[in-house]
Order: sequence, then C-alpha cells, then structure tokens
Amino acid sequence: MEVQKVMDEQKITIRPLVPELCEDWLQYFDKIAFQDHEDWAFCYCLEGHLDRKTQEEWTHPGERRTKAIELIHAGEMRGYLAYLGEKVIGWCNVNDRENYRYLTAMFQEIGYCPENIPGTRVKSIFCFLIAPEYRGRGVAQSLLNRICEDAERDGYDCIEVYPFSDEKFEFPYHGTRKMYERNGFTETADLKWVKIMQKRLKKKGEQNMSNTVLETMKLRSSARAYSAEKLTEDELNCILEAGLQAPTATNRQEIHFSVTDGDNPILSELDEEKSRLRGQEKQPHNFYYEAPTVIFLSAEDGFRWGGVDAGIAVQNMALAAESIGLGSLIIGCVYDALHGEKKEYFSKALQIPEGYSFQIALAAGHKTDHKIPHTYDFERQVTVL
Ligand SMILES: Cc1cc2nc3c(=O)[nH]c(=O)nc-3n(C[C@H](O)[C@H](O)[C@H](O)COP(=O)(O)O)c2cc1C
Repeated sequence: MEVQKVMDEQKITIRPLVPELCEDWLQYFDKIAFQDHEDWAFCYCLEGHLDRKTQEEWTHPGERRTKAIELIHAGEMRGYLAYLGEKVIGWCNVNDRENYRYLTAMFQEIGYCPENIPGTRVKSIFCFLIAPEYRGRGVAQSLLNRICEDAERDGYDCIEVYPFSDEKFEFPYHGTRKMYERNGFTETADLKWVKIMQKRLKKKGEQNMSNTVLETMKLRSSARAYSAEKLTEDELNCILEAGLQAPTATNRQEIHFSVTDGDNPILSELDEEKSRLRGQEKQPHNFYYEAPTVIFLSAEDGFRWGGVDAGIAVQNMALAAESIGLGSLIIGCVYDALHGEKKEYFSKALQIPEGYSFQIALAAGHKTDHKIPHTYDFERQVTVL
C-alpha cells in the first residue's frame, strides 16, 4: 500500500526508549534505518556517547551493537521511537547535555563555554533517524513535538540542537536548521561545521504571555566576552536613551551617564585600583571584560533614591542592548575604587558632575559568549499573600 495512505490510516505514536523496547530499537537499526545507506549501518547511534578516539576506532557494527544494548539497559542511551502501528519508523537520540561525552569534549576542544550557571538543565537532541520511505512526512516533527512537551513538563530550562551548517549535506541527522527555526529555536553560536540553536522552555510561574519586551527580558544574560567591534552611534544612543527613559523618583532625572571607550587609559587605572583595594592578583580580564564601551552612572549625593534610580536606568539600558543584539554587563565591582581615596581623581577623569557619586556601570558591545539566562526558584522567592 502507498506509504502516505498507510500514514493517513494509522496514527504515529511516539514512545520513549525504555529497556523493554530494546528489541524494537535493534530491529530498526539492524534492518530498517539504513536501508538506503548501508555504509552507515555500523553506527547504532553511538556518536554522541563515545569519546572521539573510540568513535573513530569502533568501525565494526558488532561491538557498537553490543555497546548500544548495554547503554539502553543502563538507561544511558535515551530518546524516542516513532511507531506506525507496531512498526518503528523513526528514532531520535535525546539526552541531558552533560550525558553526551562527545559534546562535552567538542566544546572543550574549541574553548566554547555555552553557559556557566550550575543547575541549568539542558536537553540536547543529538540525532534524528527516520526510515527512508517515511522521510519528509512529518515524523521528525512528531518526535520533536513530544520531546519539547516532555522537556517542558520535566522542568528543563532549554532544548539545545546542533544542525549542520552545510544545509546541502545529504544526511542531516542532527535535524535541519529550517525545522528548528519553524519550531522556535534560535541560533546561539556558530561553531563553523555546526550551529548551536536553543529553545527556551517555560518554567512554572512563567505566564503564558509573550511579546518582545518579555522575550528580551527572558533572553538577557550578562556577557563576559566581547569582540573589539565598536558600537555605532545609533547603537550607543539607543542604549543611552533607554537609560534616560527610565523612571526616577519624583521625576528628578538626577542620573548622569559618563560614556568611555574601552581603550580609555583611565579604565586601566581604575582596574588597578579596584584590584589593589580587593587585594587581587592580575586577573585574566579587566573589570569590563574588554568591552568596547563602558558607561558609568552617577547620582546626586544626598538624594535618597539615587541608587535605586541608577539601578532602574542600568537595567533599561541592558535590555535595550539585548534587544538590538548586543551584549552587556552590569558592573558594581569598581564602587569602592570610585568612592575611596581616589574618588575625586576618578570622578574628574570620568567627568562625573560635582556633587554626584558613582552608582553603577554598564559594559556593552558585541558579545562573543552565549550564556543561557539564569534559572530561578519561583517558590522560594515569591510569596503570594
Ligand atoms: C548591581 C549589580 C552589580 C554587578 N556587578 C558585577 C560586577 O562587578 N562584575 C560582574 O562580572 N558582574 C556583575 N554583575 C552581574 C551579575 O553577576 C549577574 O547579573 C548575575 O550573576 C546574574 O546573571 P545574569 O545577568 O546573566 O542573569 C552585577 C549585577 C548587578 C545587578
């Protein structure tokens, strides 16, 4: 019977791989999955699970098949099978990111640091394998829908995928960029041969509402690596205007913004003074992580709300930066240096007005790191009376 007709008559069901389904999985890999690609039949979907050396050495299907059985029974090989009736027609290898040895090693090799927040739970999709005659008929989409639903229900922060950069690659087993884009994934890094894309999942407490302001707030994260590319005048003005648009107590508008280029020598002096006061050795980065622009916010002395107003303004600026594709970092660590014995010297150099004191700073530029936004514990931090 024609494939589409069968698919119209029988529903696709998706089942998580459990040891009891190991036989179905093996049958699929032994006989169905690589019917059109016998040269790949040795694979047994181990690429993500082996270190690179073993992956390269193990070219024989026998030892790989045995290893796959072992991993399935140990619950280490995870993923979903797509069934049409009782027949397996597709498979997707999905796991917690840290369980993919291959990814961890690959990231280390190229010095890529996806994020550094303990407790962030990332689900990775490593491989799709749809039976030849069922390709292009929505099987991968059905698998992806189920993966997203389960990951959200299980409290994951995001799903991460690795589509090949070469969109013409004949066997895009990591899933295609187009499919991921259609499903709300966005690119977070370009590792040349693969792109990294992520889809952030809703956490408990997040309302089912979305607009660009909320999306920007969700996506913003401190950037601690920048390219040397300077901000354009429009970009800088966009950030400054966001600061000026922020509310101030009694509409006093007492915040002053001192804009410096990252290569202004006063910043090196300030960095040294900060380190001296903190008893720090030479740090791998300066306090603004070599960003091309640093903006210092100061407030009128003696005005009770100066610190709060500066905080509101700096967050407006950080969000503005994020919304136009820039990275930013809010910086408080130079507070003591700017309030200490050299206060007058630094205030003068930064053209902080008379009778004003530093409150907070913002570094901004083109970010070269991509950190997943921080997680939070809604229950702990919120009390609804
Ligand atoms: C008032 C304030 C001062 C901060 N000062 C610094 C700083 O001096 N250096 C730094 O690297 N990060 C600084 N940060 C950034 C925080 O470490 C960061 O916001 C926090 O770890 C949460 O991460 P996220 O911004 O990526 O969500 C500061 C943030 C705030 C709100």
